[in-house]
Amino acid sequence: MTDQKNNTILIIDFGSQVTQLIARRVREAGVYCEIHPFNKVTGESLAAFNPRAIILSGGPASVHEADTPKAPDEVFTMDVPVLGICYGQQTMVAQLGGDVQPADHREFGRAMVDVSDDCVLFDGAWAKGSREQVWMSHGDRVDSLPEGFRVVAVSDGAPFAAIADDARKFYGVQFHPEVVHTPHGAQLIANFVRHVAGCSGDWTMAHFKDQAVADVRAQVGGGKVILGLSGGVDSSVVAVLLHEAIGDQLTCVFVDTGLMRMNEADEVVGLFRDHYNIPLIHKDAGDLFLGKLDGVSDPEQKRKIIGATFIDVFEEEAKKVGGAEFLGQGTLYPDVIESVSFHGGPSVTIKSHHNVGGLPERMNMKLVEPLRTLFKDEVRELGRELGLPERFVGRHPFPGPGLAIRIPGVLSRDKVAVLQKADAIYLEEIRNAGLYDAIWQAFAVLLPVQTVGVMGDARTYDNVCALRAVTSTDGMTADFFHFDQEFIGRVATRIINEVRGINRVVYDITSKPPGTIEWE
Ligand code: XMP
Repeated sequence: MTDQKNNTILIIDFGSQVTQLIARRVREAGVYCEIHPFNKVTGESLAAFNPRAIILSGGPASVHEADTPKAPDEVFTMDVPVLGICYGQQTMVAQLGGDVQPADHREFGRAMVDVSDDCVLFDGAWAKGSREQVWMSHGDRVDSLPEGFRVVAVSDGAPFAAIADDARKFYGVQFHPEVVHTPHGAQLIANFVRHVAGCSGDWTMAHFKDQAVADVRAQVGGGKVILGLSGGVDSSVVAVLLHEAIGDQLTCVFVDTGLMRMNEADEVVGLFRDHYNIPLIHKDAGDLFLGKLDGVSDPEQKRKIIGATFIDVFEEEAKKVGGAEFLGQGTLYPDVIESVSFHGGPSVTIKSHHNVGGLPERMNMKLVEPLRTLFKDEVRELGRELGLPERFVGRHPFPGPGLAIRIPGVLSRDKVAVLQKADAIYLEEIRNAGLYDAIWQAFAVLLPVQTVGVMGDARTYDNVCALRAVTSTDGMTADFFHFDQEFIGRVATRIINEVRGINRVVYDITSKPPGTIEWE
């Protein structure tokens, strides 16, 4: 096992929408990396970080603007390999004495490049003379190269689509190898970090787990840790990891809001308390939550009430444990990466997702956040490494406010029970059809709309249930899932026959944007 510290790639972010994908590709190549915003990287921070190689991301700026962002000069003098991507290539060229011009032929989307020379970046992927698909998104383009560089690929809009200075190990590409629309892009990035930078590629989840267990032990010593367990992937993985590291010094608090899916509370208690033997406080607070939500119909109001009530209940239960200094949290890397903002100004709040944002401050405890450097799919992989059942590891995301935001309008215990039944039938059919993993999120919504129906010979006047299923990679954008009609018809029939209170089912075919995934 190699020391991670001497095997780290630094990605300097110039504000591209897809910088995180560069990190994903580097880690898929078995190499640890971190993303730092360009305006926080200095000569000193570079020396302290001691990267094995540096990748300069794309970004929205033009090298012609005043105050255009630059890489610190040390990037090019510290004798490490550098890969510049799109804007990263342009600033590298401009900073090293070449020329970048606004292009009259801008390229956006799919483009073809001609591979004009051999290059270590192309090993195992592209051969000299071949024509390859890439994804471009640029206005400026490189017009003349700094000394020492040669051209290795060209496109119609970019005569310097890929460039190489093998002596200094500096490489640049005008296209985006990190996106899937550049089919061999992942191989190009892997070649850079493995063959050019010489990283060993042994950064695996088993490696990460051992390191994380050791780090937690070092941080916590003999202290006690409290963790809020929700049954979602992140808190479940943290629970098992912490338990492996510190055993019974960990106590989990599971606040049952009464707004969970059917049987979910039993499953959580069954797995963590009964199977893993983790000390677990199960606080059944359904009545309290529903009481506080009585008469409330505004979605943001619901979120605020649920968030505040959660914190109160959690705090009260945590106090009972006594003497805990540490609070476990399932913070992930995307929450930690500082984003680069060029167009400042407050962004509009569509929904306030961070329901329990104030918890750590209020509890005045030290945080233990073993997943801080991981992406979601890495957390899943870690969960598998820790032996968590697939049913937990592969779970669809579930919002903190739970079913409260899947019942538009005012809630009641009866409505929650009706929705739980419909949702359970829908998910059971999806699992039986083998579709669960192809879907990002699927759930039922109970609408505050009654319609007339006929069952047997009787008239009914019951609620409408909407079914939602979407595909997505990050929840930021989403497409509705295309079920076959026979399947969705079967689900509708089962729900109407088996769930009292629902007499009509509709399927939501809205994408995000313009819709959101949840209805509230
Ligand atoms: P939207 O509805 O904004 O959802 O398209 C994107 C993702 O976020 C989840 N979501 C929430 N998660 N608290 C959460 O913890 C919330 O208040 C909340 N609202 C939405 C949603 O389920 C989807 O995965």
